[in-house]
Amino acid sequence: MSEPTVARINVDALRKPSSSGAKIRLHVARCNPRDPADVPRMQTYELPQTEGMTLFMALSEIREEQDPSLQFDFVCRAGICGSCAMVINGRPGLACRTLASSVGPDVTLMPLPAFEVIGDLSVDTGKWMRAMSERLQTWVHMKEVEVDFTRIEERMEPDLADSIYELDRCIECGCCVAACGTALMRKDFVGAVGLNKIARFRLDPRDAREDAEFYEIVGSDDGVFGCMSLLACHDVCPKNLPLATQIAFVRRKMAAAGWK
Ligand code: SF4
Ligand code: F3S
Ligand code: FES
Repeated sequence: MSEPTVARINVDALRKPSSSGAKIRLHVARCNPRDPADVPRMQTYELPQTEGMTLFMALSEIREEQDPSLQFDFVCRAGICGSCAMVINGRPGLACRTLASSVGPDVTLMPLPAFEVIGDLSVDTGKWMRAMSERLQTWVHMKEVEVDFTRIEERMEPDLADSIYELDRCIECGCCVAACGTALMRKDFVGAVGLNKIARFRLDPRDAREDAEFYEIVGSDDGVFGCMSLLACHDVCPKNLPLATQIAFVRRKMAAAGWK
């Protein structure tokens, strides 16, 4: 099998040594699940800390100059795609939005738990998110069976559109799942990301589903009643989504639907 292509970035353009001459040491979890002989281990890399250096930049420099076999994910480098999420000194976060100076000089990097490890810091959040999305049917269930493409789009009050947009800002990074004790114990728990999506589609007036139908998909211990209000999800969400209020809201609505 051919090796995956490694994206190249211009590390020279990023190199302006910090005036203090500081070094950063990354202690990185290494593993290759595709190699039966591989032994998971920690590996330390040291490099000069440059001004404004993020952990993503440090990892890229290591891959360019010290160890091309190091695996980690990124796409946008701007906190938008969610690919670079990892556990940084014990706390899930985005490598591209974390300044090395804020977590160094010694930084421990681990892959997000709860997701399948592809290698080193790279995990398959996509597989998990897709399964969650199919299970919760995270798309608008239109009232009409036939879609009329000639019809003018339905009006929506700006405040309501803003409220939906607020919840739609989720980038599916997986940090909330990795930080959640319930998600780590209960493999089928839909996580804060899933409950946030239910809150989002419940708000949407174009979605024909009633609370009784939402109850069918999240009114269980794998859904909203499995949440123990640990709130780590709320603390780590890099997009600052209002997860605590949304989960509490969904719980109240589902409890009411369950009594009916
Ligand atoms: Fe990431 Fe926040 Fe979405 Fe969870 S809710 S997947 S932490 S953006
Ligand atoms: Fe987990 Fe967040 Fe609930 S951390 S237990 S989903 S409040
Ligand atoms: Fe896209 Fe970090 S690379 S969020």
